[in-house]
Amino acid sequence: MSKVLLIGNGAREHAVGVALIRSGVELHTHMDRLNPGLAKISKEVSIGSTTDIKKLPNLWGYDYAFIGPEAPLASGVTDFITNRGVPCIGPNQAAAMIETSKSFARIVIDQVIPQANPRFMVVRSIDDLRKFEKQIGIENIVVKPNGLTGGKGVKIFGEHLNSRDELEKYAIDLLTKTGVVVLEEKLNGTEFTVQAFADGGTLEFMPLVRDYKRAFDGDTGPNTGSMGSYSASDHGLEYVSQEDFELAKTIMNATMIGIKKKTGSEFKGILYGQFMKTQEGVKVIEYNARFGDPEAMNVMSILSSSMDEVCQRIIDGNLGKVDFEKSATVCVYIVPEGYPGPDVIKDSPLTIDDSVQSNLYYASVYEKDQQIFTTGSRAIGVLAKGDTVKAAREMAYQDVKRIKGRVRYRSDIAAHL
Ligand code: AMP
Ligand code: GLY
Repeated sequence: MSKVLLIGNGAREHAVGVALIRSGVELHTHMDRLNPGLAKISKEVSIGSTTDIKKLPNLWGYDYAFIGPEAPLASGVTDFITNRGVPCIGPNQAAAMIETSKSFARIVIDQVIPQANPRFMVVRSIDDLRKFEKQIGIENIVVKPNGLTGGKGVKIFGEHLNSRDELEKYAIDLLTKTGVVVLEEKLNGTEFTVQAFADGGTLEFMPLVRDYKRAFDGDTGPNTGSMGSYSASDHGLEYVSQEDFELAKTIMNATMIGIKKKTGSEFKGILYGQFMKTQEGVKVIEYNARFGDPEAMNVMSILSSSMDEVCQRIIDGNLGKVDFEKSATVCVYIVPEGYPGPDVIKDSPLTIDDSVQSNLYYASVYEKDQQIFTTGSRAIGVLAKGDTVKAAREMAYQDVKRIKGRVRYRSDIAAHL
């Protein structure tokens, strides 16, 4: 039986943990704060910073570690653990730059498959900023902080920034703080997520997922960590052609080679590509060096191969085929009232009806006197499976209503198919 250390405490890690347990591993988890769902399935839990190597548990006896979130990847937790003889699912700090540095990602793509990039500039001065404004027009600009922002730092002209002054203020603030900001051309189209297992040499692709990042129905409001997602039983999406999918795969394969060329490091773990289908073709919106949250819940819930075996094959560089059930999935995130604003309702109790049939993946909640409470962030991912997206959607929303408390959710996840 493999002894596995899973690092992280979100709903994504809860879903990965469930898949690992299903494949028969002995699960140990290391979390910043206790996730009661993940704790329940773990043999042992340690609580401490997931980004500070001094706070990690003793690594003796583990077959491998699975690093869930981006923050420990960014701080080199993989490098530390691997150097102590425990292989990791999760790239090292250098390879993880494909997520942790937006400029690195754009430059790698430019070197290996430039047509997958929007027009962009890595801006290091106000002169650069003005040059880019002139080139593509202020109304077509997206401003991106270079580093990690939990999906909340990207600002788009006409949505989050409404004048030249506002845009320049945001860009110059970032420039002053970090010395660099990435400006991109605003793309139009529908987004899709492609996740792949990566063994350093090859990618094995998972079912496509559509993610809903905006806070409110109709894709309005600020970007959040995500409010929900769905995947279809044929593992495709109705608006993504086979040709688009093949192109996305080609882009991700080229990127993996580009990462190796640029850093000398092999990418081992999960490579996540967020794409937009535009009139000019398929473009990369961003890369992540880990599973998406909630996209992990969609694919982990229908993984039919053994997750333990998949992980071992990644470590051995011998990935092979990975199988998924031919089921549709819909995930609806329950979030506290007021999320993602400053007046979010915290510490409110949730009552979960026994009749819930969906998988519940706990995100930012805590347990006190056998009751689950919200924090200021996303609370529970409600994941339903079905023969069709429609059937999965009906079940997910039925169950969402069976969780009572000061919470809200988007009512249009997977609605407009
Ligand atoms: P990111 O953190 O890079 O995924 O950006 C968050 C969200 O901002 C994405 O999911 C898109 O909806 C939007 N976005 C990012 N880059 C662009 C772009 N170049 N054009 C249009 N929308 C974008
Ligand atoms: N669902 C988007 C992300 O995990 O970054």
